[in-house]
Amino acid sequence: MSLALDPAAQDLLFREARTANTFTDEPVTDEQVQAIYDLVKYGPTAFNQTPLRITLVRSPEARERLVKHMAEGNQSKTASAPLVAILSADNEFHEELPSLLPHFPQAKDMFFAERPVRESAALLNAALQAAYFIVGVRAAGLAAGPMTGLDFDGVQKEFLDDDHTPLMVVNIGKPGEDAWFPRSPRLAYEDVVTTV
Ligand SMILES: Cc1cc2nc3c(=O)[nH]c(=O)nc-3n(C[C@H](O)[C@H](O)[C@H](O)COP(=O)(O)O)c2cc1C
Repeated sequence: MSLALDPAAQDLLFREARTANTFTDEPVTDEQVQAIYDLVKYGPTAFNQTPLRITLVRSPEARERLVKHMAEGNQSKTASAPLVAILSADNEFHEELPSLLPHFPQAKDMFFAERPVRESAALLNAALQAAYFIVGVRAAGLAAGPMTGLDFDGVQKEFLDDDHTPLMVVNIGKPGEDAWFPRSPRLAYEDVVTTV
């Protein structure tokens, strides 16, 4: 009663959405990924930094290179998912700020001249965008399998550069057989929310 979102959409995005561990072989197209991005790009970031970068791992050769950096328990699902994305934070996001924040272009030099400041801002804001991305995958009727069980240095060296910090790898597709572990409980409202 308190939510404005249609109950079917609530289920699609949250209640019935699960973290998939197996997938069918139905392909995930670039058009679907573009539709997901064009939806979730509106999720907010500080100063509109928008530091998330997405590397789609499509070719079998690239997939093989990625799988060897995944933790053992993540390897077979990463090898078999229709699409795999490496989500990273662009530590040089400030270069885009004058066009992303046209009403305050001075923000680039005023707040983000120093690399350590950019790194912590990029980490927080790209992580937020990663969450929007996962929900966007669900909005497309697909399941996401986010993973941080991986060799981050290895993934960075293999696919990225010093300016891009990997955050997670996400398997994407239609859920396959036995796709999920049993649903784990969540903390209750009263365990999480305090009012002062
Ligand atoms: C950032 C992040 C990292 C995760 N890393 C892994 C991982 O390395 N391997 C894995 O099997 N599951 C991983 N998971 C899946 C979580 O365990 C799963 O999303 C959580 O238990 C909720 O499951 P549910 O959506 O089915 O309720 C990760 C999830 C997130 C959001």
